[in-house]
Order: sequence, then C-alpha cells, then structure tokens
Amino acid sequence: MTDIDNLKKEFAGLYGPGADPLLFFAPGRVNLIGEHTDYNGGFVLPCAIQYGTYMLIRKTEDGMIKLASVNEKEKATIPVKEHFLKHEILWFNYPLGVLEQFNRKGFASGGMELLFSGDIPSGAGLSSSASIEMVTAFAVNHLLNSRLEITELALMAQKAEHDFAGVNCGIMDQFAVGMGKAGHAIFLNCTTLDHKVIPVQLGRYRLIIANTNKRRGLADSKYNERVAECQLALAFLASRFEVKKLGELGFPQFFKGQDAIPDEIIRRRARHVISENQRVLASVAALLRNDLPAFGALMNASHDSLRDDYEVTGVELDTLVNEARKIPGVVGSRMTGAGFGGCTVSIVPEEHVPDFIENVGKNYTLQTGLQASFYIAEISDGVRQLTN
Ligand code: GLA
Repeated sequence: MTDIDNLKKEFAGLYGPGADPLLFFAPGRVNLIGEHTDYNGGFVLPCAIQYGTYMLIRKTEDGMIKLASVNEKEKATIPVKEHFLKHEILWFNYPLGVLEQFNRKGFASGGMELLFSGDIPSGAGLSSSASIEMVTAFAVNHLLNSRLEITELALMAQKAEHDFAGVNCGIMDQFAVGMGKAGHAIFLNCTTLDHKVIPVQLGRYRLIIANTNKRRGLADSKYNERVAECQLALAFLASRFEVKKLGELGFPQFFKGQDAIPDEIIRRRARHVISENQRVLASVAALLRNDLPAFGALMNASHDSLRDDYEVTGVELDTLVNEARKIPGVVGSRMTGAGFGGCTVSIVPEEHVPDFIENVGKNYTLQTGLQASFYIAEISDGVRQLTN
C-alpha cells in the first residue's frame, strides 16, 4: 500500500516548494475471461483491482516535463515539444506516449512535474503499463481541461502503447483500468466499445491471483507474433466470405471456411479466438444467473484453449493451474493477460484460501524451482482523482 504522506514528502524533496500537487490513482486489472480476443474485435470480461498506480502531478512554468517514480531509479527532465519521441528508457515511454497523444489532438501540455508510485507487480500481466498510461491520461486531461471522455483516453493510452512501447495490444487493459467498477466486471465489445457492467457475486468465494514470477523474456515479441497470426487467419478466411475481424465469426461460419487456412497452427489460433468469444458470452450469462460453477468450467476451458490452440501458457502457468484445480472446492482456474508467464486467476472457497496458497505454492516450487506470489483480488473502481 502506497503511503501518500511519504509520497508527498518525496515529491517536495524532488521538485521543491510550490503549489500542492494533485493526487490521482489508476488500478491494474485482472481479466476474468476473453483472452486474446480484444485485438480481434471480440468480447472481453475484465475487472479493475485494488492494486494500481498513484501519481502526484503539478503544473509548472519552466517548460519542462519532469518524470520520476519511487519504483524506478531513472528520472527525466524533458523539454516540452511539439512532438515527443520514444525514449530508450522503457518506463518513460508510458507517460511520454500519452503526452504525445495530447499533442496530436492539439492540447499542448506545458511544464509538469510527475511522481508515480505503483503497487502492481510489474510484468505480471496485471496491466501495470496501462495503469501508468491511464493515470497520466486522466490527470493530464484534468490539468489541461481538455474534457476528453474516458473511452477516448483509453484509446489514446492504447496508441501510446503501440507507438512508444512497441506492443500492438488491444483495448481491453486501458478500457478496464479506465471504466472499472467495484464488484463488477466490464463486458466489452472491442469492435464497438459498447459495454455493460456485470455483477460478480463471489459470496463465500475469493478471487485469487497467483504470479508465476517467471521473467518475461520475449513476451512482447511473442504477443505481436500472435497478433500477426490472427491477421493471417483473417486474410485467408476473407478470401471465402465477407469478414472484417475474427471476432465477428461464429463456429458455423468458421467450420465452413477453415479449410481456406492452409496452416494448421494458424487454424488453431483462429479456433481459439472464436471459441473464447463464445465462452465470454456464456460467462456473462452464468454470472448474471450467479452460477459460479458454470463460470468456473468456462474459465477452465479458456485456459485449456490458450494452452492447446493458442499456445501462450507454458509450463509455469500450466503448473499453477493444474495445482489450483486439485484444491477442494476450486471452481475454476486460468491464466490471465497475455500469457508467456504472468499470472493465473482462480475462484477459491474462502475456507480453502490458506490451503490453496500453501499447496499450490509448494508444488509449484517443487515442479519449476520458482517461487509464486499470491494476491486476494478485490474488484475495484477505475481511474480517479483522490483527495490528498
Ligand atoms: C495483453 C494486452 C491486451 C490483451 C491481452 C490478452 O494484456 O495488452 O490488449 O490482448 O494481453 O487478452
């Protein structure tokens, strides 16, 4: 938990006296189901969590953007420009990429001092980067009085990720971080951005996030490879019938057209997207009738499809999921986020949470030599200003 008084002291130490800075917060997110569907124009069902990024920000008159984070050693002082450029230090690119989006919309930023403090484990698939982007976008929107809607800010943050971080991500993370609602998941159509909040009534169950703590390695390039594979599948299918996004297709059409895809791997990638989309719709129905066992079964099927058809799990995520499913009363367990390491999410009866953490943790270490970390997720609100 970030100590706001300490953060304010740190801000004053870094940037000196002046007006009180404003305080903002953007959460991370956990995706319940609908993985690798967003950039295919499909459905997703994420929720915002209690962990996130705090940011203090103050306008200045010196024409400089000053960036610092209690989580990172590098600091930057960058002159305000008509166009900001990609920086060699990765984390600067999240705020800079967002500021560049404001520039492109004609909202010149002026000098600003920013200090971030995050408590989302980074690189764990819980959207720490979207959280930094969205807290910046929301705060700068406030400071510049640019009055952009959260949906617009999410699109700008996604563009920042594409252009400045080099990840061709979909809209899910930035949208969930922006639009999260306590106790609810966000059911989002990634083509139209139509969305509904769906109550997640966990009763005596808890949402447990388990982090593989596997180093991310080539995750970003493998992610972009999957995006490209889906575009290829789409191009083959579009030679048979009118289709703009894989997310538009149901199984009957896919079965009719799949032999247009010559490569078996590319066919499986498309099959995952289409089956996962159906599972999101079934999950929304299950949650609306408060049927956690049905939802859990869909979570399990989602993981299995990500393992077998989409091939983004790997031994660490598979081990966590296999061990989770052995704990009494666990209704479902799956990887969440991009995969290739990162986290799983499981629905666990409250009385079995200690047993879950002990046994899944122990058996994971025995099988992989790595130490997992566990978090009890609280489904929380999206980006907001806090009083300080
Ligand atoms: C990452 C991306 C999202 C989404 C997920 C996979 O989190 O940022 O846009 O594609 O992976 O569902």
